[in-house]
Amino acid sequence: MAHRSRNALRSSPAAVRPDNFLSRGQQLAFLGQGPPTGSQGSELLNLAREAIFILNNDGAIIFWNRGAEQLYGWSPPEATGRCPTELLKTELPRPAAQIENILRSETYWDGELRQTTKHEQRVTVASRWALWRDESDRICGRFQLDTDITRRKQIENELRVLSGRLLSLRDEERRRLARDLHDSVGQLLAGAAMNLTMVERKLPFPDPGSLQCLKSLASLLEQSVKEVRTMSYLLHPPLLDEVGLPSALEWYISGFSERSQIKVELDLPQDLGRFRHDVELALFRIVQETLTNVHRHSESPTAKVTLSKSPSQVRLKVEDCGKGMDLPLNHADSEERPVLGVGISGMRERVRNLGGQMQIRSGSWGTVVEILLPIAEGKPSLSPGDEAS
Ligand SMILES: Nc1ncnc2c1ncn2[C@@H]1O[C@H](COP(=O)(O)OP(=O)(O)OP(=O)(O)O)[C@@H](O)[C@H]1O
Ligand SMILES: [Mg+2]
Repeated sequence: MAHRSRNALRSSPAAVRPDNFLSRGQQLAFLGQGPPTGSQGSELLNLAREAIFILNNDGAIIFWNRGAEQLYGWSPPEATGRCPTELLKTELPRPAAQIENILRSETYWDGELRQTTKHEQRVTVASRWALWRDESDRICGRFQLDTDITRRKQIENELRVLSGRLLSLRDEERRRLARDLHDSVGQLLAGAAMNLTMVERKLPFPDPGSLQCLKSLASLLEQSVKEVRTMSYLLHPPLLDEVGLPSALEWYISGFSERSQIKVELDLPQDLGRFRHDVELALFRIVQETLTNVHRHSESPTAKVTLSKSPSQVRLKVEDCGKGMDLPLNHADSEERPVLGVGISGMRERVRNLGGQMQIRSGSWGTVVEILLPIAEGKPSLSPGDEAS
């Protein structure tokens, strides 16, 4: 997302303020020497490893540093006078006119750009633009600093694919475990319970002590059968595949309320219908994780799960009225994002893999986790201005 601040450059292109753009060592070169002269300023900008260029009011390049030559392959004489968007076949994240407006009102803009070098290589850069004004506040052009983040983006993509693969492997593993547990231990225990009933019937005159022992054994076996079935269903509810999300959620939520003593309201439309298997599984897992979080962390006596859909998207909302999360939320930038448990990051990953959006709001009034998943073509939107997080 683009961040903006209010610091226009009021200087000649060759004496651009260094504090935002140069490393500490490069900044020190400025100290104690007074303002750099034109050629010194250009030399200093050439010290930066980032691509730096300056455009005049017509959008033509009038300064192109060494970093720009190294990144894009065009020499300063080749680049000078050209329009950078055309020269670098820039893909902007939003229409150029919008960026121009932001730049004029905020004096600063940053975002990610896809560009093409002289040698036809595609690169992704983190680009920072600043409006350049002269001493009498007239706009003279703009300053642009591009940092190559191609490798980082590739690694992020690889990680995303890997984490998606890990999530689906975990789902497959859970499904296999659920079936094995149900079909092996579950069946053995059920068989043992039947045999015990037979023994009870066939014993001619058992003494009261033995009879009591047999009864308690039968009750233990019955409890074990139930436990194994619940464990198996929690690992992967068969209802989800067979009948669909509403029945699986009703089953899960009634068991959850019984175990946790948290009253949960489930609000589902009558005609929810069926979604793609991965969408249903993601929604079920997210309800499981959010309710487990409500139980473990919120101290809320109640919770509410709401599902609704439109032709293009399904919306899930899980709310509690507990003590709220004690963490900064919804950081788009992964470095700023606090380290959470596996639960919330796993939910984010599921949602991202399905092209959806997730938003968490929390305060002393409780916590709301809201998810949108696309069920048809088109990108879902939580509300105007919301971002994926
Ligand atoms: N409903 C909630 N109310 C209050 N705090 C919450 C709630 N949900 C999550 N949190 C806070 O957010 C943190 C991260 O949650 P997350 O589910 O990612 O991890 P976790 O539950 O601690 O561990 P796990 O990896 O087992 O899920 C929790 O430790 C808790 O502090
Ligand atoms: Mg959790």
